[in-house]
Amino acid sequence: MKPKILAFAGSTHTDSFNKKLVKIVAAGAKEADADVTVIDLRDFQMSLYDEDLERQEGLSPNTRKLKEFMLSYHVFLISSPEYNSSISGVLKNTLDWTSRQSDGESISCFKDKVAGLMSASPSRLGGLRGLVYVRMILENMGILVIPKQIAISKAHEAFNSNGPMKEPKQEQQIKSIGANLSQILLKLNA
Ligand SMILES: Cc1cc2nc3c(=O)[nH]c(=O)nc-3n(C[C@H](O)[C@H](O)[C@H](O)COP(=O)(O)O)c2cc1C
Repeated sequence: MKPKILAFAGSTHTDSFNKKLVKIVAAGAKEADADVTVIDLRDFQMSLYDEDLERQEGLSPNTRKLKEFMLSYHVFLISSPEYNSSISGVLKNTLDWTSRQSDGESISCFKDKVAGLMSASPSRLGGLRGLVYVRMILENMGILVIPKQIAISKAHEAFNSNGPMKEPKQEQQIKSIGANLSQILLKLNA
């Protein structure tokens, strides 16, 4: 069975390094025959989580739409920026909202899922410290997080403004990580 991968960055702005990274790894996974969909969290904007809001209005149409997407994929490929050595607010807020059940819903969109993690940052560590928290949060939600992860340091030097990496060799290496992820998923039969 082809692994179905939902790929997204924990960042919404147009020139996000993490969005660029997601696209490259997703292309590598596609070349290895995975079924990959890249989404932009900007298309699923949500209010900051507020329990009163949830009680009064329930889950927003964007939250429901994203949960529907998540339910139909086996794997999440997530590239998270590091904010103050931790997870970005956009990603945490998205995970908080999508972890909430609507009335009548019987299954969590995180149940039996596998995740692959990566990050990109202008810093020397490439956002690696933030991934510690992303991993912990996802694992505590019951997701199996693949040990191998990518962190692209000096991202401002690594990517061209229109997306691809400046060094074709580095782009190829990163694509091969997407392909590798796809192979791991096939072995896991995810
Ligand atoms: C509030 C804030 C906190 C940040 N904290 C860190 C940090 O702890 N470590 C780091 O490497 N970069 C940090 N950065 C810089 C981000 O890595 C940089 O803005 C990067 O471009 C974000 O990823 P994106 O381009 O995909 O949005 C921070 C940026 C912001 C706005």
